[in-house]
Amino acid sequence: MAGKKDTIFVCAECGYESPKWMGQCICGAWNSFYEERAQARSKAGAGKASGGGTVRRGGADGAFSGPGRPVPLRTVASGQADRIDTNIGELNRVLGGGIAKGTLTLIAGEPGIGKSTLILQAAIGLARQELTVLYVSGEESGEQIRMRADRVTNDIPGRVLMLAETNIDAIADTVAELHPDFLIIDSIQTMYTDEITSAAGGVSQIRVCTDVLMHIGKQRGIPVFIVAHITKAGELAGPKIIEHLVDCVLSFSGDKSRDLRLLTASKNRFGTTSEIGAFEMRENGLAEITDLSGALLDGFSGQTEGTIATAAYEGTRPLLMELQALTAHTNAGFPARTSLGADRARLGMILAVLEKKAGLNLSSFDVYVNVVGGVRPEGTSIDLAAALAVWSSAKGIAIPAGTIAIGEIGLAGEIRGVRHADRIAAEAVKLGFTRLILPEKNIKMKTPQGLRLCGAATLQEAIAALL
Ligand code: TYD
Ligand code: MG
Repeated sequence: MAGKKDTIFVCAECGYESPKWMGQCICGAWNSFYEERAQARSKAGAGKASGGGTVRRGGADGAFSGPGRPVPLRTVASGQADRIDTNIGELNRVLGGGIAKGTLTLIAGEPGIGKSTLILQAAIGLARQELTVLYVSGEESGEQIRMRADRVTNDIPGRVLMLAETNIDAIADTVAELHPDFLIIDSIQTMYTDEITSAAGGVSQIRVCTDVLMHIGKQRGIPVFIVAHITKAGELAGPKIIEHLVDCVLSFSGDKSRDLRLLTASKNRFGTTSEIGAFEMRENGLAEITDLSGALLDGFSGQTEGTIATAAYEGTRPLLMELQALTAHTNAGFPARTSLGADRARLGMILAVLEKKAGLNLSSFDVYVNVVGGVRPEGTSIDLAAALAVWSSAKGIAIPAGTIAIGEIGLAGEIRGVRHADRIAAEAVKLGFTRLILPEKNIKMKTPQGLRLCGAATLQEAIAALL
């Protein structure tokens, strides 16, 4: 690949390698090539190859020694039992039931969102179980971390060890000497290796340092948490390519002007990516929110044009939320379609169905849709609520209080069934809703006390049911 040349160029988006710099990569990304020293890379690359090809779940040193030899799959130890409880239920849930041994987890989020706090609370939780945690900080001094720790606990366990260091090779030496049970790197953007000359935080540094960390984790079977900052646009600052190297990519998000923080996984080799962890940032650290629906609907009363409650079944629990829509006369020639939390392509489809099946022409209207609280529900069960909210805003008709709507909308205007409608219904009653508009298909369930079920087979029927 690199040939005899000293440097190669690598695309930060897809990892494509080229002997020459290119303005646009074959993956379509512009200006994404960065220069890397071929020597340093081949060394790091060698580590990557062996890591990728061996039995990850075994986690033992043996997995890396000598040339790979096939073993019967049934004799390979399953890592499933080896979960480590972080003592933070919401974090365990998003990870898929605790931390699997020898895994690399990336925690990404905007500066100031609370990554260091979350990770420190996890460190404290682990240390309370007699596990030694090495917290390496390249951003803050020991005093600063001590101050944070004092906010979240008045009894810092002795097994939380703190190291202010940015040289990844020195960190590797410390780990070899100390044999911690857990390693935390805060943040990857501050780490560097002497092997390559570029500055810390650069794409090549981040990549090589992540390689070193992966080696440490897999070789010693210890879990590693890596903190990474992301830019406002929500991208990992620098390399998207390290997402491929790690087992789990978690993102920690929220509106900094509010206290709600959400933890989601965009990649998880050891669990689903549909679980949501919820926290509240308090004076004394992050507190778990077990009733996320209640928190998301806090202050919601309905009875406003364009506002409705809806629900999705995320991971292992129903999640109720508020959805808002606004239609306004467009000033530009081309009407805007803006969506926060709901899929933009689906919104386009829903608007087309509204026009065709409900006679609602929005071609000279801008449409805004927002799922309140910063959640981004994965499934399609919020389709119907989005349609009804847009309809309500466009018609200037408020949706009656106590109403919640779920259902997927098909291109023919039909309302398709949703998963676990019965559990959504049960949750709706708990939160005080009195009427559920749902797919006709889902109506055969035990009606929870206090909730009226309105089945709708088509969008027109749902609109009729609304009034
Ligand atoms: P921090 O964990 O430093 O964020 P990050 O590592 O993602 O940059 O936390 C940032 C904010 O959280 C900071 O503005 C102070 C606030 N905070 C609290 O409100 N309560 C607390 O107990 C702690 C530790 C922090
Ligand atoms: Mg921090």
